[in-house]
Amino acid sequence: HCQHHQDKAKITANVPPTLDGTWVSTRCEVRPGPEFLLRSYTFHPTRHLQAIQHYYTDSSCGDPAYSLLIRGKFRLRQASWITLGGTETDHHINRVGIVIHSRSAKQRLASRLPPSCVGVTLSKAVPGKVLELYNTRAGRLCLSALGFSMMELGLVRVETQNFGHGGTVQEMFLGDIHTQWTQRTYHRPTGYQTPLQNVMHHIHPCPVCALVYRSSELRPPALPRGPSPPLSLSGRWVSQHCETRPSVLFLTRDFTFDPETHQWGGIYRHYSDPFCAQPTFTLTASGHYAQGNPSAKISAATEFVFKVTQVQITAFDLATAKLLNSTRPGKCGLTGNWEVGIEQDITTTHGCTALGIKLPHKEYELFKTELDHRKQALLFIGERPTDGSSPDRPQKRPTSFQTPLVQCSGGVGGGQEERLSHKQRLGSHSKQIQLQKSGAERWRGHAMLLALGLVLYTWGCVY
Ligand SMILES: *[C@@H]1O[C@H](CO)[C@@H](O)[C@H](O)[C@H]1NC(C)=O
Repeated sequence: HCQHHQDKAKITANVPPTLDGTWVSTRCEVRPGPEFLLRSYTFHPTRHLQAIQHYYTDSSCGDPAYSLLIRGKFRLRQASWITLGGTETDHHINRVGIVIHSRSAKQRLASRLPPSCVGVTLSKAVPGKVLELYNTRAGRLCLSALGFSMMELGLVRVETQNFGHGGTVQEMFLGDIHTQWTQRTYHRPTGYQTPLQNVMHHIHPCPVCALVYRSSELRPPALPRGPSPPLSLSGRWVSQHCETRPSVLFLTRDFTFDPETHQWGGIYRHYSDPFCAQPTFTLTASGHYAQGNPSAKISAATEFVFKVTQVQITAFDLATAKLLNSTRPGKCGLTGNWEVGIEQDITTTHGCTALGIKLPHKEYELFKTELDHRKQALLFIGERPTDGSSPDRPQKRPTSFQTPLVQCSGGVGGGQEERLSHKQRLGSHSKQIQLQKSGAERWRGHAMLLALGLVLYTWGCVY
């Protein structure tokens, strides 16, 4: 009952996909920074695109700051050879308009943007009117100062879920946003953001979808600020879908936390395909964690420190088994003992140098819990740095999140939840270990990353 919730639905994904229609956010989205936004993107059969992005001052998207109205053209190109199952696209932005929703939002923007942009453009902005910020002749400066880019359009995947009773849900995955501000306008995505849903085929009910769809750049949606009930990390949390990581890894995550002993365990199951049907290897990690302060940047999120002390690896394909088998003695478990399907402990060798895993390892994390509209508990674990490094210093703590995990039904009984002190609630934890690869010839140029939070991550390496 805990694994692959979506197995009930038949999932298909055409390459190239059909983008026609309007696609909207299903919840308040958090981008690195952090930035809080809701998106509504419309793709026309004429290859014209109209995208609206509503930006907020708060992490529940209740207080609109400004909206961007983006018009352009797009063209589907070839299937991505880096991210299997994704399609590359070209786009061209013709115009970007801005609507500022309050005087204070205007002041904040004015202090962020260069004087030339503010003087010429922003000074004319009045709440409730669209102001042209950019066209193909002018305004580039304002856009780059905003950190604006539509590089997310560079990679797209549309998944269609068919439920037995005839219901259909369509999700659009667009490229990931770089976690480093200075990189985001150049970044060519190889992973995805949280998907948008098609307004004609979304999960029912979706109160946020309806609010976003009915809004416009002049009338931004304001999401109701629901109470965020205190939740415990306690119990088991799993991926809802097959997840895609930059670059090229497909995996599911499965975590267990025990707030009383501060122990955690994670199972990262890796696959070679975007449906998570062909297993390549599984990483089992464990250690302990400590809950820190509430986040100053994202309300209702909490800081954590995770320590990874033990890791076991099981190879499920011959290439991975052979790779691990060829490591130098004492550097990656028992050399010569690697076989397909047999688990090996790499704790005794302090990790696995060939994979760049060093043990023990510490990571700085940001966690958030939320209830979805069905009152199902969701756990958001911090986004991994896009450059493949590890958040091993407090300054590298994430400011955005990965796709949420769901709590397994039958995980924690109500009684147990009540026993937990306030400090133990609202957890998050994730650890990641960076496995900086040190030299093995076959891996030259690839860094392998173990995310304790979940991710083992490779560069340009197709399993
Ligand atoms: C690993 O090495 C041992 C000893 O050389 C060998 O017997 C075994 O078949 C190897 N395993 C794989 C998967 O190649």
